[in-house]
Amino acid sequence: MRILSGIQPSGALHIGNYFGMMRPAVALQAEGEALYFVADYHALTSLRDPETLRANSRRVALDFLACGLDPERATLFRHSDVPQVTELAWILSTLAPMGLLERATSYKDKLARGMSANVGLFSYPILMAADILIYDSDVVPVGKDQKQHIEITRDLAVKMNETYGQIFKLPEPRIQPETETVPGIDGQKMSKSYGNNIDIFGDEKEMRKRVMSIVTDSTPVDAPKDPASSTIFKLYSLVAPKNEIAEMRERFLKGGTGYGDFKKQLFEKLWEYFAPMRQRREEILADRSYIAAVLARGAKRANEIADRVMERVRKAIGLR
Ligand code: AMP
Ligand code: TRP
Repeated sequence: MRILSGIQPSGALHIGNYFGMMRPAVALQAEGEALYFVADYHALTSLRDPETLRANSRRVALDFLACGLDPERATLFRHSDVPQVTELAWILSTLAPMGLLERATSYKDKLARGMSANVGLFSYPILMAADILIYDSDVVPVGKDQKQHIEITRDLAVKMNETYGQIFKLPEPRIQPETETVPGIDGQKMSKSYGNNIDIFGDEKEMRKRVMSIVTDSTPVDAPKDPASSTIFKLYSLVAPKNEIAEMRERFLKGGTGYGDFKKQLFEKLWEYFAPMRQRREEILADRSYIAAVLARGAKRANEIADRVMERVRKAIGLR
């Protein structure tokens, strides 16, 4: 089984990225050949400062490694180290109906939030399809927001297979139901672009401040509170042991505890949860050549697979 996923280097990683994609990706590296990449080509649709792109890309690689990606088991590489993927994206685009992309909700969302409509942003799902198909991927661990992109990938693979004969496998999304959409501090989906994120590797003061500013309703301290609709409780459920989750639920239902106290409890657990990863991150940082070496090895392996698949594709469509 081949497992593939990517993450954009558009800024610091947050706990939505962690629980939605990175943790499942780390768990899957034991189940097959895993390939994970820093999607720098994708980030170009919104990021235009070369130094920032370079720094962010390195930082995403660092953070992913700190969160448990094991380069002895999984391949970590930079998107742009496999430029053949843009060739495949072109080929796929020649079969992609406009309507398929016009229906993509992430594009519509971005426009609604005021991003300018460049062609790259519009055709992003085609590049993402190429990312997945060029490695003959079976399984793609992602958060729920990416589900439609995987459906588009499957549609494009089917079109290629119908047109040129069996070229591609159809990949399956792997979405963890309990972490498919991690809420941010305003209760909406956590996202850097909504400004409601809690970063994995922010410093202590910053993480505390973000947690303390989680939006709550105006239920008085003494009154019972609803755990199911509470962002505090949802986030606590991701990081606390079962018995402590049950305890917090009871204290919500009983009343007598204010949201401020629950937030403090959440902060302590969150901080503790990521402590081993912070330590690992320091260790990686101490070895100055480590990340570059991992990425170079990853690029080599990713290219081997991509080259083989591209030979198959070029032959099938008449470019060879
Ligand atoms: P992005 O930051 O958009 O590149 O997202 C990287 C990965 O994290 C994708 O698989 C997303 O689906 C996942 N992700 C991002 N935000 C969330 C969230 N709030 N809840 C669950 N998964 C998320
Ligand atoms: N679109 C994904 C995101 O924004 C990142 C991504 C790019 C990706 N290519 C991919 C994820 C291929 C999985 C597979 O989160």
